[in-house]
Amino acid sequence: MKKILLAGGMGYIGSHTVIEVINAGYEPIIVDNLSNSKIEVLDSIEKITGTRPLFYEVDVCNMKDLEKVFEENRDIEVVIHFAGFKAVGESVLEPLKYYENNLISTFNLLEVMQKYHCNKFIFSSSATVYAVSKVMPLCENFPLGASNPYGRTKLFNEQILEDYQKANPSFNVILLRYFNPIGAHESGLIGEDPNGIPNNLMPYICQVATGKLDHLNVFGNDYDTKDGTGVRDYIHVVDLAIGHVKALDKLVREENVGLKVYNLGTGTGYSVLDIVNTFNKVNGNLVNYQIAKRRPGDIATCYASSQKAYDELGFKATKTLEEMCKSSYEFQKRKEA
Ligand code: NAD
Ligand code: UFG
Repeated sequence: MKKILLAGGMGYIGSHTVIEVINAGYEPIIVDNLSNSKIEVLDSIEKITGTRPLFYEVDVCNMKDLEKVFEENRDIEVVIHFAGFKAVGESVLEPLKYYENNLISTFNLLEVMQKYHCNKFIFSSSATVYAVSKVMPLCENFPLGASNPYGRTKLFNEQILEDYQKANPSFNVILLRYFNPIGAHESGLIGEDPNGIPNNLMPYICQVATGKLDHLNVFGNDYDTKDGTGVRDYIHVVDLAIGHVKALDKLVREENVGLKVYNLGTGTGYSVLDIVNTFNKVNGNLVNYQIAKRRPGDIATCYASSQKAYDELGFKATKTLEEMCKSSYEFQKRKEA
């Protein structure tokens, strides 16, 4: 079995990917410092798959500890790099924290991979690296530009990896630009578990549904969209995880991948009210909302072209918005039970 190292593999997207990596017949090794995840995730992965993955509680920014992982596992085939901080607002207040964690983690991984002759890398990038565009859907070759420190860490990482790959042609890297991952594993055992009051739409809705929060504030209903509320490309996290396995298969199968970039989205945009209405339809009428002011920095519409990932990876998201809303709520209920 080929060994796959997942840095940040205990987090929301990482843990779902660990499950799909196991389902696809690979052997995952998780490295995570638990700065934004809990050790119980390992038990949940074991319950779901029957396999308890090898786990190292290690900070990827600590080179000595990271090297020990490679020393003990000299035959790692591919590294998937999820480890990083991701809260846009916090990145504005504490930019150095973001630059340090999100960049040093990559430097360390590249350095240790070179030392141990591992030359296949998948990076968690984001739709946030695209410059504001009037044209939708966003294609991989559209202009790039970031508007906050978090986004810049993603953009810098992409550029660093591009330079590094040019200088080292035998290095193979796939940049995956995620759109808006929501939903949870069907077991309800793993899902998105943010600290404090959620910033993102679906975790907020889920906490309104359980009564933890009073109502949803819909940030603006005067955008140039079908109902005036913001439109995004929501993708089920299990589909997203399967997208990683497709990228993994390509790196394992092909000799000279070089650098490739793929959007992981569905290609469909849904508005905030679409999400609220679907959530209420599948889970009972639990979510009240009020129209509030626009959130600074938000754009009206953002959705992906998913064509390239389909053509080159054979990836197509299959899960519906109903499934996204149902599984998100199931996870939230279990967590609060
Ligand atoms: P998450 O916070 O749930 O997972 C990240 C994991 O990395 C956590 O378990 C955390 O403990 C770990 N981590 C952070 N810094 C680390 C370090 N220095 N060493 C070891 N472990 C460390 O986030 P997520 O939603 O699963 O996102 C995963 C990746 O995808 C991130 O890089 C994020 O920026 C990117 N991304 C996420 C979204 C989204 O909407 N969730 C969208 C686009 C891109
Ligand atoms: N929204 C509300 N009320 C809320 C939260 C969100 O109305 O309480 C609206 C937003 O205005 C937006 C939509 O719901 O129209 C989605 O907002 P999210 O915060 O869930 O997601 P964003 O599209 O703003 O951003 C997310 C991540 C970014 C990432 C981007 C693209 O937070 O880090 O997706 O991947 F870059």
